Amino acid sequence: MQFYMAPMEGITGYIYRKAYHKCFGNMDRYFAPFIMSRRLNQKEIRDILPENNEGMELIPQILTNRAEDFLAIAKEIRQYGYDKVNLNLGCPSPTVTSRNRGSGFLALPKELDRFLEEIFESCPMTVSIKTRIGVEDEEEWPQLLEIFEKYPLEELIIHPRLKTDQYKKNTIHWEAFKKAEESSRHSLCYNGDIVCKEDYEKVVQRFPGTEKVMIGRGILKKPWLAEEIRNGDKKDSSRYKEELFGFHEELLKGYMDYMSGDRNTLYKMKELWAYLGTSFTNPERYMKKIRKSQHISEYRIWVGNLFREQDLIL
Ligand SMILES: Cc1cc2nc3c(=O)[nH]c(=O)nc-3n(C[C@H](O)[C@H](O)[C@H](O)COP(=O)(O)O)c2cc1C
Repeated sequence: MQFYMAPMEGITGYIYRKAYHKCFGNMDRYFAPFIMSRRLNQKEIRDILPENNEGMELIPQILTNRAEDFLAIAKEIRQYGYDKVNLNLGCPSPTVTSRNRGSGFLALPKELDRFLEEIFESCPMTVSIKTRIGVEDEEEWPQLLEIFEKYPLEELIIHPRLKTDQYKKNTIHWEAFKKAEESSRHSLCYNGDIVCKEDYEKVVQRFPGTEKVMIGRGILKKPWLAEEIRNGDKKDSSRYKEELFGFHEELLKGYMDYMSGDRNTLYKMKELWAYLGTSFTNPERYMKKIRKSQHISEYRIWVGNLFREQDLIL
């Protein structure tokens, strides 16, 4: 099985990926959060600079519905040494979909087809797609799949939810992924709601042919998850805790080196604790203190207390 780290805008930028790769290092591919600007801005450039992504296979991602823009961005990305790029057809955020981008583009199959025709005609890189299965009805999926079949995609990453499902619980459309498995010639990757080892096992049971899974929030909550799945053990909580602490220190250092002032670093770390916190027994008291921390010294005390006094939930 190959494991991919999902792109998560605002969270899995290069500082996160670098710390993760150093401490866990077990992802076959990392996907960078989407790039939208026709001319890459400094933040987008820093995120994909080879020296910030050493030792890992990074796939940059583009979010647009204009072939001309896609090609211009791909051309610029290529200058940094990349030969693969991913197209985002999954983002459900209203600011994106209202302009028919991300999963909003799935509402316009004819335009999408034309867009793909244009980019496949002249893109000098191999292109993969990360997609949802439609806008508001699973019935849309067969037509979209047919369109994807026409093009030589490097791979097709499917998050089997509709745009309107957003991230609501129990809205995975298993049948849609099955349909793709049965009918698509593309190399498929499953993405969605793998947040523990059992979730992963259920996916593999349902789709025994699966060779690639992409994990997003599951990694944010349990950065050791891929290791746990790979090792097949479920009991080594103290080892994972030690690794998690090391990862936390590395990440904190990464943000402190890059950002000015405690405030910005703490903003980033607190955002992550919304996910990480769910993996500790009785985290509430510590989360409150972490959220209220104004200085890194104070923050460190409460993180230390949490690691000392509570266990991980595996
Ligand atoms: C905070 C956040 C940011 C995200 N940013 C991106 C993004 O930049 N590009 C993308 O294709 N998907 C993005 N996603 C979607 C994830 O990559 C992934 O498809 C989704 O979370 C489902 O997988 P999961 O259940 O394993 O998290 C984002 C999701 C979250 C929660």
